[in-house]
Amino acid sequence: MARILIINGPNLNLLGIRQPEIYGRVSMEDYLKALQVDYPNLEIEYFQSNHEGDIIDKLHEEGFDGDLSGIILNAGAYTHTSLAIADAISSIERPVIEVHISNVHSREAIRQKSLISGVCRGVIAGFGMDSYRLAIEALEPGL
Ligand code: DQA
Repeated sequence: MARILIINGPNLNLLGIRQPEIYGRVSMEDYLKALQVDYPNLEIEYFQSNHEGDIIDKLHEEGFDGDLSGIILNAGAYTHTSLAIADAISSIERPVIEVHISNVHSREAIRQKSLISGVCRGVIAGFGMDSYRLAIEALEPGL
């Protein structure tokens, strides 16, 4: 069975509660349940951390696994600051798709800059929680 890993960075444990006007009212747990129903032939693994080093460790742990179709990464605010996460993405073998729930390009100037875009396979932003599903379609078309 195909397998993908979703990694969420800081503050994304609060999805559904945090700034719902920007990020919506659905928790990640509920969204993942619905996603798993939509993709019965896909093993969806999920990891969230508020800590930069833990995200890097997870990228290292999973990023050489040939059975993994790819990694969907919403690095949250680390997107705009973390050269270390960019280096980790460059160091691993599996493709990483950068995802954002909000359209970061329509927000503050600091959010319009990403240190990780250039080392990711592609970027999906601005489609709400559906950004994660679109990233699955990019990694596993028509599954
Ligand atoms: C985010 C956008 C980031 O700028 C922000 O820091 C987040 C969430 C998004 O999904 O829209 O935490 O990555």
